Amino acid sequence: MNHKVTVVGGAGNVGATVARGIAEKQLADVVVIDIADQKAAGIALDMLEACPIYGSDSLVMGTGDYAESAGSDIVVITSGVPRKPGMSRDDLLNVNYKIMQQVTEQVVKYSPDCIIVPVANPLDAMAQAIYRLSKFPRERVIGMAGVLDSARMRSFIAKELNVSVENVHAFVLGGHGDTMVPLPRYSTVAGVPITDLLDKAAIDRIVARTAGGGAEITQLVGTSAWYAPGASVVEMVEAILLDKKKILPCSVFLRGEYGVRDVFAGVPCKLGARGLEKVIEIKLTPEEDAAFKKSAAAVKELVEVINV
Ligand code: LAC
Repeated sequence: MNHKVTVVGGAGNVGATVARGIAEKQLADVVVIDIADQKAAGIALDMLEACPIYGSDSLVMGTGDYAESAGSDIVVITSGVPRKPGMSRDDLLNVNYKIMQQVTEQVVKYSPDCIIVPVANPLDAMAQAIYRLSKFPRERVIGMAGVLDSARMRSFIAKELNVSVENVHAFVLGGHGDTMVPLPRYSTVAGVPITDLLDKAAIDRIVARTAGGGAEITQLVGTSAWYAPGASVVEMVEAILLDKKKILPCSVFLRGEYGVRDVFAGVPCKLGARGLEKVIEIKLTPEEDAAFKKSAAAVKELVEVINV
């Protein structure tokens, strides 16, 4: 294939879902890297053997050796400890920061020109850690969060209104934490804002369920989600590799956009072959603006703890 994507932590649930999605859509050859190297080799082989059924010529291999990842176009970093029931994403800060330090060094060594998609929690702080450690330009470190949060909101809106998810567009800004900012005004069904279609109580329910979406799954499963997070990464990878110029909410390093500076937070981003090609600025009401700034401030508190 023309493209190569490495998934670090690829033997874990999220990583394996990403690797499989990329192979199924024939977007790239895939290298699954994991400290559990035998498991990585095994699940990669299993995926490779599924490719004839998908009709995909993607090559998939798994290993513990980063040398195999050399020259990747995109590296997805899914390594890290997941949440247990009752934990917030922020509880993972210090342990996952140590993992990001080890992983980023290897990624930069073997794929100095890649685009990194951070996935570990607390998402925005880990993305910022990877950005600082890699010394990559901000265009090449794009955290996955908003696609997932928006997908959750879309599924709840579609269910509430009994319409196709394909008709539903949802907007979620801010950090991927308890302070995330779902925006009902910009969330639409066939172009009509949900504020015209649902009463306040229903919208408040959807907003609250979206913000608590990760915790809801963690409570049910005993660990954090993987199908929707994995699918979200695949959508981002596809937008980049196919140079689609697709606008997706992602966590990126802000340089004054939305009045926020020097911190990662979720905003609408245009994704193409160069990675982050543009931050799209939309007009927020004073309440939305305050909620966004509060969310960015919560990320800032975390990055100050690990000093990145
Ligand atoms: C979630 C975790 C992955 O939102 O952050 O499910």
